[in-house]
Amino acid sequence: MAFHRGPLNKGTALYPGSFDPTHNGHLDLIQRGSKIFDELVVAILRNSEKSPMFSVAERSEMLRTLTADLPNVRIDTFDGLMVEYAKSIDATCVLRGIRALSDYEYEFQMALMNRKLEPTLETVFMMPADKYSYVSSRLVREVAQAGGPVKGLVPEIVEQKLREKLDPAYKLGETQLVEVPRRRKKKA
Ligand code: PNS
Repeated sequence: MAFHRGPLNKGTALYPGSFDPTHNGHLDLIQRGSKIFDELVVAILRNSEKSPMFSVAERSEMLRTLTADLPNVRIDTFDGLMVEYAKSIDATCVLRGIRALSDYEYEFQMALMNRKLEPTLETVFMMPADKYSYVSSRLVREVAQAGGPVKGLVPEIVEQKLREKLDPAYKLGETQLVEVPRRRKKKA
């Protein structure tokens, strides 16, 4: 077919996303992707419209620490169209994770729009381990913000960063009952 750059090689794949924050499902996918591709570039979108919990610098630092043991994984950031960034790093594939059917519609639309924008770039979907199939950054933020435990859903350093970021009144993973002192009855 005319639009193909040639056979797909294992070359460089791009795993783009917000990673706000990185959770265990992301890490699982990074580990799987790093086994398939020669190089995996995990890139954080800089110009996201959402107001993020963690700055791009904080997210990059966490990802760098978490992937330090994977020599073919590189952390970067990007702005603007993802397909343009993918071309700039010579990526032949975009890696995205699919957890449940609910992810499918959004991912399907995005993959086809990206194909329209750049027909030579293929989107590859992988599934994280089923134990992480319900884990999303949005839910992790929500649970953590409400003082709930996120142990086992995010790596320990992310758990620590969440703890530091959030109101010190919340203690993740611990529910403490505070005894409210009783009011003394005023003497008549
Ligand atoms: O982790 P997310 O928020 O699901 O990642 C979405 C992301 C960053 C991959 C997507 O929003 C993106 O690629 N944005 C860059 C702008 C772009 O290229 N938009 C067209 C996508 S069809």
